[in-house]
Amino acid sequence: MEPKLLLTPGPTPIPPEVTSRMSEGMIGHRSNDFNQLMENIQPKLKNVLGTDDPVVILSSSGTSALETAMVNLVKTQEAVVIIVSGAFGDRFRNIAKTYPVDVHIFEVEWGNAADVDEFEDFMNGISNVKAVFTQACETSTAVIHPLNSLGKAVKKYDEQTLFIVDGVSAVGGMAFNMAENYIDCLVTGSQKALMLPPGLSFVSMNDRARNRAADNDIPRFYLDINRYYDALEDQSTPFTPAVSLIQGLEKVLEMLESSGIDNVYTRHAKMRDMLRAGLRALNLEMLVADEYASPTVTAFKSNEDELSFIKKRLKNDFQITIAGGQKELKGQILRIGHMGYMFPNDMLRVLAALEAIVSDYREIKYYGKALAAAQEAYYE
Ligand SMILES: Cc1ncc(COP(=O)(O)O)c(C=O)c1O
Repeated sequence: MEPKLLLTPGPTPIPPEVTSRMSEGMIGHRSNDFNQLMENIQPKLKNVLGTDDPVVILSSSGTSALETAMVNLVKTQEAVVIIVSGAFGDRFRNIAKTYPVDVHIFEVEWGNAADVDEFEDFMNGISNVKAVFTQACETSTAVIHPLNSLGKAVKKYDEQTLFIVDGVSAVGGMAFNMAENYIDCLVTGSQKALMLPPGLSFVSMNDRARNRAADNDIPRFYLDINRYYDALEDQSTPFTPAVSLIQGLEKVLEMLESSGIDNVYTRHAKMRDMLRAGLRALNLEMLVADEYASPTVTAFKSNEDELSFIKKRLKNDFQITIAGGQKELKGQILRIGHMGYMFPNDMLRVLAALEAIVSDYREIKYYGKALAAAQEAYYE
């Protein structure tokens, strides 16, 4: 049978070298071997998150890192602004509503990026905002927000207001530089561009954010970031970590380094360009404007019947899994993930399959059209 191809925006395929490293055997988490592993990982992990500050590793999924940012960086009754442009902005909203904080939502139409002028006006209408939360890539719509301009706007409002970014579906697939983009806290997860199984998440804070976390009254235990910083001083973790995943992480970071991290980011951008050109050649409409299109996930539109036909046929006849729309975009889009252990050849495979499926559905022959457009996008 043809090998399966998982093209979802997380979880993503795991390189065999990483699976192999994860099964080399357990080590004690209070051992020198584990301390050495943690020490090896830090500099490489900092490079991927674009920071000189330590990166905390949590043994829990991405949402725990979002919640860690919220409970450590916002105090009781403080005002926060959350940019909500899709399902994961909504996740931040729901986390914030769980705690006694004063939540203000900057709503963005799903499929659009935040408009910086409108965002500035919104901020100026609220006094004493202590933190702004956004996604880098809103996975549910495949939008990349203009982080640099948003970060600049946050600091123009007040230098002390924290800019907190969810990079779960972006880190590892595009370059980050926390300082250059005014990011005080960046969080991410293991199961997307970082080519690992689900189960780890990562939090990096600059000094401003760390000071805020050190002096916070909101009750918390497992997600108290201060415990993790204390343990990190000794290359350790406060609780039993997901040791095998951390072993796999070391391999992932070695692979990214040996590929050249910039080449990895270029490959992601190429896959985006190939897909967008190929899908357009099939007369499938993009949800997101080129300017804000993510290098890690692509969303396209059609009528509900055609989308359902495409998704089923890809899975049943071509062993390719892609994702549907979430919440209000359910039935309106399909999403193809292209992050982590995915390559331009995988884009050609899915586009060739789509040519056949769309040709069947519309009774118009599209053979070669998407492939030609994608190859042109790749080579030009
Ligand atoms: C942007 C973004 N944030 C947060 C999450 C939540 O992460 P998890 O499902 O690992 O808790 C996801 C997961 O898809 C995501 O894409």
